[in-house]
Amino acid sequence: MTISFIGHGYVGLVSAAVFADLGNTVWVIGHTPEKVNNLKKGIIPIYEPGLEELVKRNVDAGRLLFTMDYAPSINESDVVFIAVGTPPKQSGEADLAVVMDVAQKVGKHLDGYTVVNVKSTVPVGTNRRVKALIEEVKPTNATFDIASVPEFLREGQAISDTLHPDRVVIGTESKRAEEKLVELHKPLMVKGTGEAPGNHLFLCNIETAEMVKYASNAFLSVKISFANAIAQLSELTGANGIDVLEAIGLDKRIGTAFLNPGAGYGGSCFPKDVKALIAIAREYNYDFKLLKEVEQVNQDAIMGIVTKAKKLLADDVQGKTIGVLGLSFKPDTDDMRDAPSVIIIKELLAQGATIRSFDPIALENGKKILKDAKNVHFAKDAYDVATDADLLIVVTEWNEFKQLDLAKVKSLMRSPNLIDGRNIYEPEKAKALGFTYLGVGRQ
Ligand SMILES: NC(=O)c1ccc[n+]([C@@H]2O[C@H](COP(=O)([O-])OP(=O)(O)OC[C@H]3O[C@@H](n4cnc5c(N)ncnc54)[C@H](O)[C@@H]3O)[C@@H](O)[C@H]2O)c1
Repeated sequence: MTISFIGHGYVGLVSAAVFADLGNTVWVIGHTPEKVNNLKKGIIPIYEPGLEELVKRNVDAGRLLFTMDYAPSINESDVVFIAVGTPPKQSGEADLAVVMDVAQKVGKHLDGYTVVNVKSTVPVGTNRRVKALIEEVKPTNATFDIASVPEFLREGQAISDTLHPDRVVIGTESKRAEEKLVELHKPLMVKGTGEAPGNHLFLCNIETAEMVKYASNAFLSVKISFANAIAQLSELTGANGIDVLEAIGLDKRIGTAFLNPGAGYGGSCFPKDVKALIAIAREYNYDFKLLKEVEQVNQDAIMGIVTKAKKLLADDVQGKTIGVLGLSFKPDTDDMRDAPSVIIIKELLAQGATIRSFDPIALENGKKILKDAKNVHFAKDAYDVATDADLLIVVTEWNEFKQLDLAKVKSLMRSPNLIDGRNIYEPEKAKALGFTYLGVGRQ
């Protein structure tokens, strides 16, 4: 098949590279000459494990093509995916300006029969708006169907998630579009008839597909905030929150995933999608109180790290040097969108601290985001962060932080205060080394 992706971010580029690797001819349409030229040489604008190799291999094989032009890419395509960003507006609603802009360009270049999919996360009703827009601008001889095929990949594991999805959700009212999309996704499906993940091509109507994506992310956010609420209560009561959450997760109806308390969720999806679902509900006069509380608990979890910092520094943050390990919103990505680290660092700076920070991959993005902040120093590694620090905070659980030589870390610090915002260390070991240790949900 010949397919096109509009957008070469975490979703567009990964999906494009995987479909090219499966033997399709894949066009990727970008809008910045520098990035498109780099992509043609196999230089990618984001960090995602394994992606650069996958892109290079398929560029070299001539199956993955980058362009700024909608012709011939769209004219030649059987299937088109819109995979541009849908950032939040001030009101929390998803900003659909880019989706609508590129949909119009796609529409003008349709030729023959094409299935146009919105892969970006968009509010219920958007696909029908896209359909109406394309109807208006398309050439008279072109025919098309619209489908909502939301994306569920996780940054850091995006290639494997795309190759082995738990489910592929296809929302369309056209049998012809459904058949085309089933054919395209078939190589991703696990053979057999059991209940295993990967067997599920989930066919539904457009509105359902649009809603599934928001509902998934909202539910995962609920789990994280629930874990953080239990952690907070455990700290107050003397229970071990980590054990409580592990024990409840062993119940098959609950499951252990996404029940890790810590410094709150962030990233390009959960914060914006929770906000967007609250905004969608508002539009339909439903007050989504549950999700409003999820946001509040998450904010409390992030700020809880600052409260712990003040506690360990006896309420005297002014002039103290605080080391921050990890900047990206989670490990294995350079994505800094809505990263808890930024909120924590800004709050500690406002209280007079000097920050030393390091991230194995997101350091450059961190420098850009914090470029106007005074008193932030970027270190060369974790030990450099610890040097002369009065307090060390783990914000992102990168693997390379998990087995640091903590005795060496302690010897470099001015005061051995450690906040383990992701619970990666054994409290007893840290305490035995002489650290004053605080995790999340642990005594
Ligand atoms: N990142 C994730 O983990 C993830 C997972 C599932 C779904 N999503 C959703 O997928 C969508 C894309 O997310 P993302 O993380 O890939 O975003 P991103 O910011 O990484 O990528 C967006 C891409 O759109 C491109 N773009 C912007 N304006 C354009 C234009 N006018 N013409 C062509 N391209 C343009 C950008 O250059 C960029 O390549 C969002 O709706 C997001 O919510 C993201």
